[in-house]
Amino acid sequence: MPRDSLGHLTPGIVAPLRRVPAHIPRPEYVGNREPAAFTGSDVYDANGIDRIRESGRIAAEAIALVGASIRAGMTTDDLDGIGHSYLIANDAYPSTLGYRGYPKSLCSSINEVICHGIPDDTVLISGDIINIDITAYKNGMHGDSNRTFMVGEVRPEVAELVTRTEESLRRGIKAVAPGREINVIGRAIESYAKRFGYGVVRDFTGHGVGSAFHSGLIVPHYDTDRFPNVMTAGMVFTIEPMLTLGTHEWDIWEDGWTVVTRDRGTTAQFEHTLVVTERGAEVLTVI
Ligand code: MF3
Ligand code: CO
Ligand code: CO
Repeated sequence: MPRDSLGHLTPGIVAPLRRVPAHIPRPEYVGNREPAAFTGSDVYDANGIDRIRESGRIAAEAIALVGASIRAGMTTDDLDGIGHSYLIANDAYPSTLGYRGYPKSLCSSINEVICHGIPDDTVLISGDIINIDITAYKNGMHGDSNRTFMVGEVRPEVAELVTRTEESLRRGIKAVAPGREINVIGRAIESYAKRFGYGVVRDFTGHGVGSAFHSGLIVPHYDTDRFPNVMTAGMVFTIEPMLTLGTHEWDIWEDGWTVVTRDRGTTAQFEHTLVVTERGAEVLTVI
């Protein structure tokens, strides 16, 4: 039975591991079951920020290249190959490859997949939306970003969800300033999403990023009084809102990674890595 774009995705077949040339340095967790506990800071000096900016630029370029390649008829593993090749050609390691056993160089999350979809032999069809999430590791730093792309003709309701999810990220970034609590970000995102009746995913969050892929710092995308940490200049983290047409509740596939909406309704996401500046924020995952 051919697939449609209405919440009937099933797991495909995952191809063998791709190789990374030996001269490209690996993050410490590769080959281990989980990352070492991170004891460093979320605040970086100018040199650290420069290095995260370079990793972030490579990640952003890889996402743009993959996005420009997307066509109905391609598999998500084809997209993984394009992203993987770009990263290694730029002497960057694909941070997801071997992270807690994750087997691929990017995450490809279609329609009802909230996040962490694994590239496989699933074929893209017109009407799909697909999020491409790439993290590049270079010079000891990770830069993490994602965007949602449309495949062919997408239902207007779904196209609106995509553009509004990107706008919610923009509003979250605008709320960033030194001296403010980190929870202002989620307040900005949720108040915008609520206008349209969208669900806001709560259990997957933004995070500190830089010398660690996930530092332990949590950046919620919903309105909460928890997480009152104060932002300071030089602090680096992601904002990566996931908005849904229906419920924000989720299930996870047997693969232990693929997170889907419980009602199998469509969901979109956008992500940037940014640094808190004296005046606001600078996005580090730009071309
Ligand atoms: N890049 C994702 C994030 O935004 C994390 C992916 S971890 C993986 O945090 F193992 F699923 F790839
Ligand atoms: Co992230
Ligand atoms: Co990401």
